[in-house]
Amino acid sequence: MQPTWVRDPSLAGEGVQKIELAESLMPVLNMVRARLAVEKPFKGITIAACLHVTKETAVLLRALRDGGAKVAIAASNPLSTQDDVAAALAAEGFHVYAFKGMSTEEYYTAIGYVLNHNPDITVDDGADLVSTLHKIYHGRMDSTSSIAAGVVGVEKVRQIARKVLGGTEETTTGVIRLKALAREGMLLYPVVAVNDARSKSLFDNPLGTGQSTLDGIMRSTNILLAGKNLVVCGYGRVGSGIAERARGMGARVTIVEPDPIKALQAYMAGYQVTTMAKAATYGDIFITATGDINVIRREHIEKMRDGAILANAGHMDVEIDKEGLRKMAVSVDRPRPCMEVYRMADGRHIILLGEGRLVNLVCAEGHPSEVMDLSFSIQAESIRYIVENHENLAPEVYDVPSEVDKGVAYLKLKSVGVELEELTDQQKTYLSAWFYGT
Ligand SMILES: NC(=O)c1ccc[n+]([C@@H]2O[C@H](COP(=O)([O-])OP(=O)(O)OC[C@H]3O[C@@H](n4cnc5c(N)ncnc54)[C@H](O)[C@@H]3O)[C@@H](O)[C@H]2O)c1
Repeated sequence: MQPTWVRDPSLAGEGVQKIELAESLMPVLNMVRARLAVEKPFKGITIAACLHVTKETAVLLRALRDGGAKVAIAASNPLSTQDDVAAALAAEGFHVYAFKGMSTEEYYTAIGYVLNHNPDITVDDGADLVSTLHKIYHGRMDSTSSIAAGVVGVEKVRQIARKVLGGTEETTTGVIRLKALAREGMLLYPVVAVNDARSKSLFDNPLGTGQSTLDGIMRSTNILLAGKNLVVCGYGRVGSGIAERARGMGARVTIVEPDPIKALQAYMAGYQVTTMAKAATYGDIFITATGDINVIRREHIEKMRDGAILANAGHMDVEIDKEGLRKMAVSVDRPRPCMEVYRMADGRHIILLGEGRLVNLVCAEGHPSEVMDLSFSIQAESIRYIVENHENLAPEVYDVPSEVDKGVAYLKLKSVGVELEELTDQQKTYLSAWFYGT
C-alpha cells in the first residue's frame, strides 16, 4: 500500500508552523478535539477523506486522529493543495495523497489510494470520493472511476462500499450529487450534509468564500476593485457574500441570476440585475458561483471588453467554458502565477484566473481559519454522529442534527465572549402557544 504521496517532504517544517497558526484561530475545533481526545469515539475507525489539503483541514485531521481514527486523505481539487501542509501531515503519520498541480490521472489515483485503506467513514468535499465509489460499485464506470478501480480493484471497492458506515459532505455541489444518488435509489450508506448546517452555510459560504474569492482575485492580479464593474453569476449563499464584499470595496456590482426570488433579493439589496448576455458587454471582472455548467460561454466571451477578468468560485471547473476560450484564442501568455491571458483574433485579451478552478483556494489560501473553525467543528461532530448512530440511519442524505448545529454556534459565541439572551418561562410559554391573541 502506498503510504503517502506528497510533492516535497522537506517542506514539513513550514507546514507545521502554518497548521499551528490555524490552530490558534480555531478555538471551537480545539474544544471539540480536546473532548474527542478523552472519549476516543473513533477508536478502530478508518476515515477516508477527500478534502482541500489546507492548514485548516490539517487541524481537523489532528482532531480526528486524537479521537482515535486512522486517517487517509486525498485532495478534493487538483490545484488546491498546500504542499507544505501536505508534507507536515505526512510527517505526522497521516496517509496523504495530495500535491498542487495533480493531473486528472493522479487525482483519481489518489482517490484509489485512499479507498485502499478500507474506510469505515468517508468525508467528502464535492463528492468525488463517494461518486467514484458508487460508480465502481454500481458498474457505472467512466474514465475517472476506472483510474481509481485500477488502483484498488473492482471487487475490493465493492466490499468497501458494503462496509462503510456513513459519510459527510462539505459543499453545496456535493450535497446536490448525493441527493441525486439517493433519488435514484443508488446511495449505499447514510451521509450527513455538513454544508446545509446553519452554522456552516450562513458563515462559510458567504463570509469565507466571499472574502477569499476576492483575496484570490487580488493576489493573482493586484487589481483595484474600486470603480470596477464586477459581475457575480449566482446570488446564492456564496454569490451574495462575494457581491456584498465587492461592493464594500467600491466595485459596481451586477448580479446574474435565473431564480426570481434570488434575483429580487439582489435587486432589493441595490444591485444591478441583468442577463449574462447584457453583463458580458460591460463587466470588467466576472465571478461564477453557481454550481452550474457553462455559465460563461463563447457567446458571452465574444462580447467582452479587452482585459476582462474571469474567475470561478463554484466547486467544479465547468462554470466558465475553458475549452471554448482556448479555441477562440490565438495565443496564451502566463505573466503571473495563477493568470492566463488569452489573446483573441480581434486583438482583445481575456484573462482567466486559476484555470477556472476555485479561485479562492487556487490563487489564495481558501477560507480564513476563523470560519473553518465552524465548518470543521460541524464536520468532526457529524462524523461522530454517524459513527454513533449509523445503525439507526438509512442510506439517505441527513441534515446535521440541530443540537450539533446550535452547539457549535454556541461554542463560537462563547469563544468570543458573547452572551446569549435567556428567555423567561413566560416568554417560552408565549412563543409556543396558540391562544394569545391581539
Ligand atoms: N470556493 C469555495 O470555497 C466554495 C465554498 C462553498 C461553496 N462552494 C461552491 O459554490 C457553488 C455555489 O454554492 P452556494 O452554496 O452559493 O449555492 P446556492 O445554491 O446557494 O447558490 C447557487 C445560485 O446560483 C444560481 N444559478 C444557477 N445556475 C445559474 C446560472 N446559469 N447563472 C447564474 N446563476 C445561476 C442559483 O439560482 C442559485 O441562486 C457550489 O458549487 C458550491 O459547492 C465553493
